[in-house]
Amino acid sequence: MRTSPVIPVLVIDDAATALPIARALVAGGLKVLEVTLRTKAALDAIREMQRVDGSIVGAGTVLNETDLHAALDAGAEFIVAPGLTETLGRAAIKSGAPFLPGIANAGDIMRGLDMGLTHFKFFPAEAAGGIAALRAISAPFGMAKFCPTGGITLTTAADWLALPSVLCVGGSWIVGKGPPDLAAITAAARACAALTRQAREPRAEP
Ligand code: 3PG
Repeated sequence: MRTSPVIPVLVIDDAATALPIARALVAGGLKVLEVTLRTKAALDAIREMQRVDGSIVGAGTVLNETDLHAALDAGAEFIVAPGLTETLGRAAIKSGAPFLPGIANAGDIMRGLDMGLTHFKFFPAEAAGGIAALRAISAPFGMAKFCPTGGITLTTAADWLALPSVLCVGGSWIVGKGPPDLAAITAAARACAALTRQAREPRAEP
């Protein structure tokens, strides 16, 4: 979550596009890539993207233990889930892979803290109330850090990153639908990588 300010959330329909898309993102400065398990091509895409030097490829939309093991078998280096269930949480923690489960309220965070988790995806960030909501929900949990995702754009990302509890944001806007425009992807990645977090400097490392 500290490697780059934006994690591209990727929906890959054709595994043949995975390698060029990953190269374009890494060339633009975004190394941490979340491939959502929403398409048949996703696991192959994870395998392909790992071939890019410097990439850190994880799986998103991991809903249960079956998804978790499929993603890890494909080489996923981190696991993102839209929510937090007891079964997935326990299995993900046991696997040792970095695990970023979704939360949308205080109860979700408390369930995560009970499991020893402190880093969460705030999802769906805009629909769940935006910056005001995260500021309020996170106030009792000074130890918790967040990656808001859902409805965020390049224009709004900096405002989210200015929150002290936000380490990075996620979003699908960096890679458009359809045949990939690699130059546009690299340009979008570059714009994301350039986002600063000056509003929360200096901050203590957890
Ligand atoms: C996710 O899975 O994290 C979201 O679907 C990404 O949200 P966005 O498409 O609104 O960026």
